[in-house]
Amino acid sequence: MNILFRIFALGIFFYEKSLQQEIPSYINVCSLSDTKLSQCIRKSILSLRPYLNEGIDELDIPSLNPLTVPEIKLLQNSGIQVNAAFKHIQIYGATEFRLRSVRCDTSTDKFRMKIWFPELRMMGDYDIQGTILGLPIKGQGRAYGNFSDIDGVLSMKLDRIEKNDKLHYKVNFLQTEFNIGGAKAQLDNLFNGREKELGASINNFINENWRIVAAEIRPNLENIISDILKEVADKFFSAFPISSLFKP
Ligand SMILES: *[C@@H]1O[C@H](CO)[C@@H](O)[C@H](O)[C@H]1NC(C)=O
Repeated sequence: MNILFRIFALGIFFYEKSLQQEIPSYINVCSLSDTKLSQCIRKSILSLRPYLNEGIDELDIPSLNPLTVPEIKLLQNSGIQVNAAFKHIQIYGATEFRLRSVRCDTSTDKFRMKIWFPELRMMGDYDIQGTILGLPIKGQGRAYGNFSDIDGVLSMKLDRIEKNDKLHYKVNFLQTEFNIGGAKAQLDNLFNGREKELGASINNFINENWRIVAAEIRPNLENIISDILKEVADKFFSAFPISSLFKP
């Protein structure tokens, strides 16, 4: 009897240890029967924030502050008469969000959250060519953008797939939308630093008409950020089965 008890206790010990290893401290486990599940998930997202700031090495998730975007291209169309490419973009402030609302439905595996960013700062290398105000514009150099009061919506639909005999979530689609309250931008070195006055007035024009410029960049930026977050979410879901992320 005594021996059986010991084996039993040992079994529980190892079982608990393996559970602990399966669920790292950055995961706040919610219960599916929690009537305030959305509230619990909200807490989980907030407890993940410092780890997203740093990146999570063992999951191969990069730091999201700064968030690195390899490239955004703008092609000349009726809206703006320029071709522009922005490369090696770094976005600071992406993890400094406030959660406005979190909605999740575990029967449909749909998730939606509203977030707000007080400020996002971007910098990168630009290459631009075209006409603005009927004037030829051309240049390469560093680009800076400060955006404030940004409302964001993230909608996500998950699939459940089987991996090593366990059910995992996988992102079916993930979409983001952003609404910018204010913006300030600066393109250094327009016209290779010659024609400084013209360069300055083009910067002024961009800042006075930033809503038009932002509207052009927006769909592209939303798609790129959605892709980055989808990759992060899939790395996360692939590492932990649903049974580790949620208690019954
Ligand atoms: C963006 O904000 C930083 C910090 O407040 C400031 O130093 C920089 O000049 C701003 N850039 C633009 C383009 O306004």
